[in-house]
Amino acid sequence: MQAQILVTGPAERPVFHLTNGQISYIIGITERAAIPEQLYFGPAIRPQDSYDFLIDRENRNGVLLFAQDPASSLDYLSQEYPSYGHSDFRQPALQLTYPQGDQVTLLSYVSHRILSHKDPLPGLPASFGQAPGDTAVLELQLKDAGSGVRVTLQYAVFADVAAVTRSARLEQTGPETVWIDRAMSLALDLPDHDYELIHFYGGWAHEMNLERQPLQHGIYQVSSLRGVTSAVQNPLIALARPRADEFQGQVLGFNLLYSGNFLSQTETALSGTTRVLLGIHPDLFRWELKPGQSFQTPEAVMVYSQTGLNGMSQAFHDFYRRHLIRRPAGKALSPVLLNSWEGCYFNFDQDRLVSMAKAARDMGIDLFVLDDGWFGHRDDDTTSLGDWRPDRRKLPEGISGLSRRIHALDLQFGLWIEPEMVNPGTPIWEAHPDWVIRVPGKSASPSRNQYVLDMGRPEVVDNLFDQLCRVLDDAGVDYIKWDMNRHLSELYSHALPAGRQREMSHRYCLGVYQLYERLLARYPDILFESCSSGGQRFDAGMLYYAPQAWTSDNTDAVARLKIQYGTSMGYPLAAMGAHVSAVPNHQTGRVSSLALRSTVASFGTFGYELDPARLSAAEKAQIRLDIARFKKLQPILATGCFYRLISPFDQPDFCAWMAVSKDKRQAYIAAFRLLKVMGQERVRLPLAGLDPALLYEVRGPWQSGTPRYGDNLMAAGLILAGNKHDPNRQPDGQQGDFAVYTFTLEALAQT
Ligand code: GLA
Repeated sequence: MQAQILVTGPAERPVFHLTNGQISYIIGITERAAIPEQLYFGPAIRPQDSYDFLIDRENRNGVLLFAQDPASSLDYLSQEYPSYGHSDFRQPALQLTYPQGDQVTLLSYVSHRILSHKDPLPGLPASFGQAPGDTAVLELQLKDAGSGVRVTLQYAVFADVAAVTRSARLEQTGPETVWIDRAMSLALDLPDHDYELIHFYGGWAHEMNLERQPLQHGIYQVSSLRGVTSAVQNPLIALARPRADEFQGQVLGFNLLYSGNFLSQTETALSGTTRVLLGIHPDLFRWELKPGQSFQTPEAVMVYSQTGLNGMSQAFHDFYRRHLIRRPAGKALSPVLLNSWEGCYFNFDQDRLVSMAKAARDMGIDLFVLDDGWFGHRDDDTTSLGDWRPDRRKLPEGISGLSRRIHALDLQFGLWIEPEMVNPGTPIWEAHPDWVIRVPGKSASPSRNQYVLDMGRPEVVDNLFDQLCRVLDDAGVDYIKWDMNRHLSELYSHALPAGRQREMSHRYCLGVYQLYERLLARYPDILFESCSSGGQRFDAGMLYYAPQAWTSDNTDAVARLKIQYGTSMGYPLAAMGAHVSAVPNHQTGRVSSLALRSTVASFGTFGYELDPARLSAAEKAQIRLDIARFKKLQPILATGCFYRLISPFDQPDFCAWMAVSKDKRQAYIAAFRLLKVMGQERVRLPLAGLDPALLYEVRGPWQSGTPRYGDNLMAAGLILAGNKHDPNRQPDGQQGDFAVYTFTLEALAQT
């Protein structure tokens, strides 16, 4: 079914039904005051002429919008974009300050537009349609009677995914300046609070830990005021029915397409309803809106699943892969890369890099990435950020010379940058002290010896763009890792007057997006990977510019099981930067088999981050085989459906997951047994996502060779044996601690 917006009801009080056959989202307009009212979000329901039966009006006392109308308290109304000031005491989506100092807004429906295409949002990430007619867009125009403020609520529904996107545009058509104190991207009033909230917490090297808790009365905030989304909390949240699990039950998922300070909030208020809000964090935000000016909020997405958390993840994965991520033409699948960071850190010269690259090429790697340390005089992390001239001591032929040598090996060449940062002593620091975020007369806090440039200033973006073009123009760079290694403190922009300082964080984010957009326009073939000390800016906003993101600086395969498991809840495997690194691991000191490291990384973009000179001949031979195997499996992993079978958050010693091709004819399964536990010699692992009627050939350990039907594999499961102690065998990746078992399924031709 196509994406559709059906309009019924009288012209002054229309009802909008957004649907694609999978989900329905229904909006009404209230009889008095013409307030857009949320009527329904859930599985698709058949269109009807009227949805009056969804309107819930009871006589309730309290603060009333209209005298003599006991059903007119806004506190009980499910609204599309609640504003502050009248009789709704819950947290609003919109809060404005007017010239006389009051903050009272009431938005009423004026008109609407329905479009069959979706336009980009100015300066911001925005989802898009793939083909004509696969997208339906609704714009509701609202106005505040007293002030001239107009708000356009923007909705989109797509033919092929159970998702609705939301955003809002504000415009001052009146004669006076107003101030936006809060303009959220999404507000959703749900009729009850029988949900559990799922959200993600963490920090450097331990990102995306899943936490699930009953939704209780009051407000729960998932947020960042760090200038980036950060790994402390992620904007992704889900509301799951208490009985919903990985494969069954209702789950609503929400995310914000934004990379700065955010708020994802639930509020269960006096009527037992739940209000969900997502948007720019209103703390540290205030925007001056002069007559004639407009303000666009970032976009937010909500998905609906009746098949538990897995259904939610698949909806997110499909939505991002088809409607958000812009991959360079001809680069549908990510190249297998070798990144220099853990292999040599700052300690390299051209010869060492070329010899690493040669070894990489011999193992079947596609792309060699030079990480930090190639510019200025950067031998450690104390210097040179902001000075993007190649260090001729290490690279006598510059970046273009190195790139030529790498290309001559028939490898692609990639480069690390951290454009938003500056170290003291660099030309940019000396010449433009006012470009640095810090407050005159107050101390400024360093982090990793560096400070942040005020990306909200156009001249800063221009300078960085020019510097980077000088490096990139003739270097033939195929890939860029854009890093960002500290949070924003001592907020102050020298370019803004005192009364507009709270615009700074959002302007910063817009500046980052603008630099990305300009580089993408000039170098459309470059594949970007975003990074922020690992996964500190792993968010849906970044995915619009950089199709992949470095998931964590923790490259330990055992730690990665949790990090990648949590990340997969909202983000596709093809976006998750994942590398095989050396043992003992540089973060945890753990020694795990190459088989485990390679298998975990293959459920991501797949690459290596080590010094090939330290590999034995046997390891190199194995890596060659692993890469060849990954390349065969990559289409399933990158474009198929991902199923989590055993959660490392529930089972301390076990984790299992699988990917199935969209046509269900091929699958790849990995089961991880972290600690050898006696009494678990034989475990059955039921699979998921297969076609019950297809007969699959199963390849992997302990398989009899007899093909099995999909229903059989999903019900009876694969048998995992191999944990019995065999004194004659050393731990080798399939026995002992940190064991890994992989299986492939291939449907037989005649079925
Ligand atoms: C950050 C990144 C790493 C690496 C270093 C380089 O920590 O997350 O992958 O690029 O910076 O300094």
